[in-house]
Amino acid sequence: MIYVTIDGPAGSGKSSVAAGLAKKLGFKHLNTGNLYRGVALLWLKAGRPEFSQEFFDMIDKKHFSVLDSAIIMNGEVHEDDLRTLEVGKVVSKVAEVPEIRKIITDKSRDIVKSDNFVVEGRDIGTVVLPDAFLKIFLTASVEERAERRYKELIAKNSKADFEDIINEIKTRDSIDSSREIAPLKPALDAVTVLTDGLSLDDVIEKIYNLYRERIKIAEN
Ligand code: DC
Repeated sequence: MIYVTIDGPAGSGKSSVAAGLAKKLGFKHLNTGNLYRGVALLWLKAGRPEFSQEFFDMIDKKHFSVLDSAIIMNGEVHEDDLRTLEVGKVVSKVAEVPEIRKIITDKSRDIVKSDNFVVEGRDIGTVVLPDAFLKIFLTASVEERAERRYKELIAKNSKADFEDIINEIKTRDSIDSSREIAPLKPALDAVTVLTDGLSLDDVIEKIYNLYRERIKIAEN
């Protein structure tokens, strides 16, 4: 199977880029942030329980799959309910738990095992798929990322406060990049792409061209 990984901080445009690139390549798309958001949703629904073996078993037993930009957990489709501010506020805490990371890493590998995939997240090139064909580290300034998240929430008629979003992004960045297990950092062999001032199509085109170059090299 061929995998293109896209790692990077919150709001760097990963989801739109990964979806567009997957379409252009004819690959499937896995957004692993949505899997962590799914676990955060289950945790909130369960009344914020202790992170105990009982909770890990409940997550592990669930069947996870993807359908376009939605995820399916035991037959239930989740999409908009993964992107609320409430889920955004607790998801880093959930993603910090080593047992949860292991479950989601295994489930991610299982989901991608029989198709070509563009896989996005934080630790895909470093931990989940270290042998991926092409690894991208996508990044943008905090202000640009907050503006994108703000527009996304407004477009969905969700509650949005710009200062709140800036703070949420900064807090999440610092938790995500300083945690001991699978911190957010580029893989040694990743190509870093800075998206400030670039249109979505520009970014997709840039990564697509990198992919074509790699394919040419691999074929020779
Ligand atoms: O990409 P996102 O903002 O939807 O991700 C939600 C959270 O999940 C974020 O706090 C980082 C975390 N995450 C992670 O730790 N590892 C991944 N592979 C994907 C997401």
